[in-house]
Amino acid sequence: MSDSLTKLAYQTFQQGKSYFGVAHKTLSTQLTQWVAPQSRPERQIHSISPQQLLILQQKLNAILEVDWQDAQNGVYPASILFDNPWEDFFRYYPEVWLDLPAIWNRTQNKKYQDFSSSIDTEGYPSYYLQNFHHQTDGYLSDRSANLYDIQVEILFNGSADAMRRRILAPLKQHLSTFSNPKATRVLDVACGTGRTLRFLRATLPQAQLYGTDLSPAYLRKANHLLSELPGELPQLVQANAEALPYLDSYFHGITSVFLFHELPAQARQQVIEECFRVLQPGGMFIICDSIQLSDSPEFKLMMENFSTMFHEPYYRHYITDDLIERLKTAGFQNIEQQVHFMSKYWIARKPQ
Ligand SMILES: C[S@@+](CC[C@H](N)C(=O)[O-])C[C@H]1O[C@@H](n2cnc3c(N)ncnc32)[C@H](O)[C@@H]1O
Repeated sequence: MSDSLTKLAYQTFQQGKSYFGVAHKTLSTQLTQWVAPQSRPERQIHSISPQQLLILQQKLNAILEVDWQDAQNGVYPASILFDNPWEDFFRYYPEVWLDLPAIWNRTQNKKYQDFSSSIDTEGYPSYYLQNFHHQTDGYLSDRSANLYDIQVEILFNGSADAMRRRILAPLKQHLSTFSNPKATRVLDVACGTGRTLRFLRATLPQAQLYGTDLSPAYLRKANHLLSELPGELPQLVQANAEALPYLDSYFHGITSVFLFHELPAQARQQVIEECFRVLQPGGMFIICDSIQLSDSPEFKLMMENFSTMFHEPYYRHYITDDLIERLKTAGFQNIEQQVHFMSKYWIARKPQ
């Protein structure tokens, strides 16, 4: 297929995902208003003005263009632009709807730390035992792991993977300075269902990949999805990111995507310190997470409401937190920041 046709196919694919996200959110909001109006959180997302919609659309177009350009420039194969867990999507999408009554029930009763009796909650930090984004069983069931990727795609109107992929260009550029790609070790902290590891595998086919997460269910899901890929399976280990089970100076690169807004401030600092410890001198650490208030003051209200609307208890603090200061406190240097669409990136180096 010629480049212009591939680009058109990519734009159409993304547009389809975007329409799907908007349609799902509109329908489910209507249904909630109609069937369970009492279950709406106290704060509502204020209606987005046409001006804000235009800004969002421009930012979305910009990230899709960067995504396309990175593929064109050989950072990763263009095929991963179309990567989507189709089988899971058709299998589990109905469950997203079937889960709504349970969500209504929890929001109505303001129950945000609600876990089925079959779930073992022993041994997890208390800040983790939450129904983040109103997910049934939080991160602790196979059902939650099956629905997660679909829910994230809906939330970001199909742009979550384009945001995740923005860690790849700086990391690949950094690792190109190492002479032996097979000896390169890269860790993805809080890997969830493995979307970022999937993209890392396509970008760094020879590297040794590692993933950690606190959720055994999400790691099972990641293991299942990643085992479909050619090449060596990443080594997945259940671990708290605050205490990584690796030797000092073990990795050449570390990434972490969409974790920091789900941590209280102290844990955020501790995770950064741990990543510093297990990174080699000269290694690179890349955080990808939500934009912060200073990046888009025009979305202040939307960001503040996000915390309640989607039950993200640490998000309000996160959006004003100074991660550069935290990274510097841990010892990182040469810290760059980037912003793409609704996500922000901190690219930090451990001094030689
Ligand atoms: C929003 S999800 C992001 C997952 C994945 N990185 C992605 O891009 O979809 C947050 C993930 O962080 C994990 N997590 C939260 N707190 C953690 C901690 N202290 N240590 C390890 N993983 C943690 C959760 O289990 C979940 O998989």
